[in-house]
Amino acid sequence: MTKELHKIVFSAMRPTGKLHLGHWLGALQNWVTLQKEYNCVFAVADWHALMGEYENSQQLKEYGIDMAIDWIACGIDPQKSILYIQSEVQEHLELQMFLSCLTPLGWLERNPTYKEQLREITSRDLQTYAFLGYPVLQAADILLYKSTAVPIGEDQLPHLELCREIARRFNFLYKKEVFPDCKAILTETSRLLGVDNRKMSKSYGNAINLSDSVEEITKKTLTMITDPKRIRKTDPGHPEECNVYSYYKALAPELQGEAHIWCTQATKGCIDCKRTLATKLTDYLGPMREKRAQLEKDKDYIRDVLNDGAKKAKSIASQTMAEVRQAVFG
Ligand code: TRP
Ligand code: SF4
Repeated sequence: MTKELHKIVFSAMRPTGKLHLGHWLGALQNWVTLQKEYNCVFAVADWHALMGEYENSQQLKEYGIDMAIDWIACGIDPQKSILYIQSEVQEHLELQMFLSCLTPLGWLERNPTYKEQLREITSRDLQTYAFLGYPVLQAADILLYKSTAVPIGEDQLPHLELCREIARRFNFLYKKEVFPDCKAILTETSRLLGVDNRKMSKSYGNAINLSDSVEEITKKTLTMITDPKRIRKTDPGHPEECNVYSYYKALAPELQGEAHIWCTQATKGCIDCKRTLATKLTDYLGPMREKRAQLEKDKDYIRDVLNDGAKKAKSIASQTMAEVRQAVFG
């Protein structure tokens, strides 16, 4: 398939720890598909992570490398796509400065994501100068590559909207169409809950990680909460009310019909149902786990991929920056 060369798809993730099934279903799976059709640029957004984790900055490097390993293990192909660490391409910061100058404070203060995070995240002090400007750096990420499409989850839509407004304001003020308009490629956020029925999240410790061993997957799956109304094995259950069943639907649809019958006709108990799921999950994640184990033994390769990615990213970024400087300073 020939790629649409003029189109660049950009996305990024903050390196905050191990990736889990939610990341795969809600983002990565889509990235893997997109790279067949588009030129994709994927960044490990460590500057963005630092805005929240400036007091724990020592882990970011390791997390970043770990995330790159997860990406490649999942099928992000360094031959097809550019993957790199954001802080290794300084142009992001230069563009952020240009964009900061023309971004009205009100746009940032009104940002719903910002307000929500200030309210909800109490473990860290996010009342900082940088954090208010989070979307400006995100806009710089996207615009630096003149990206026209950005795969993101719904939670990131306000940020993309800001990016588009910032781009329009730049083009208007400097009377030059430096930045194209960009659209969201909405990835349906994974609705798969964690094993404890809460939102799947690293901080709850309820996620099945892409790098989990067979034992870990089995152990976590067996702790899953089942239909509370199915008390005895002979009681018929309600699959639609059971998290285990939603895992079948999402990850083993070929067994969905059977699981429905085991449950509603009480032909199989919950423990068996979960054991079967554990086997399925183990198989599902098998290829990623194996690729990951291989990659972990070859840190030099990962470093090479990221260095090469930063070099390629820089070659696009430096062209954009030359245009930006010309447009602003003449
Ligand atoms: N803010 C995004 C998140 O938390 C990560 C991100 C940084 C990003 N820069 C980006 C996403 C540019 C899309 C485009 O998920
Ligand atoms: Fe859930 Fe399976 Fe038990 Fe039904 S049989 S309640 S789907 S674990």
